[in-house]
Amino acid sequence: MKLFVINGPNLNMLGIREPGLYGREDYRALCDKVRAHAKEMGIEVELYQSNHEGDLVDYIQAAYQNADGIVINPGAYTHTSVALLDAVKAVQVPTVEVHISKVEEREEFRQISYIRLACVKTITGHGLDGYLEAMDYLAELKKS
Ligand code: DQA
Repeated sequence: MKLFVINGPNLNMLGIREPGLYGREDYRALCDKVRAHAKEMGIEVELYQSNHEGDLVDYIQAAYQNADGIVINPGAYTHTSVALLDAVKAVQVPTVEVHISKVEEREEFRQISYIRLACVKTITGHGLDGYLEAMDYLAELKKS
């Protein structure tokens, strides 16, 4: 089993950006956690981060016939991007939307998620552990 773990804009700034919301652990720590969890699960994982919408579309498209699941935190593109939604719909790979913060308790403009319409699950407010929960969910889904 192979999962893609994709992070959108500003998630490379983890540990620096708004630590009260996103914590003090950096992007490298997130990658280490995801890789360690994949090893424990006995699965393959590929990590990708970009600040550019088109690059994220390209990476989602690369999951077609190549990945069994996608874990994605689209960052601010969650609330604006029909292109990311269409990419997930196009590849038909089960996708879990993850947010580190509890977006539902934040600003009005964060209450819209386009990508959610194509996702099998959404995890919010569990910090970096949310990514690992998403990986577990996709592994269970593949078994069923
Ligand atoms: C975020 C929430 C988004 O609203 C925000 O733009 C982010 C991070 C989260 O992980 O909580 O960049 O996706």
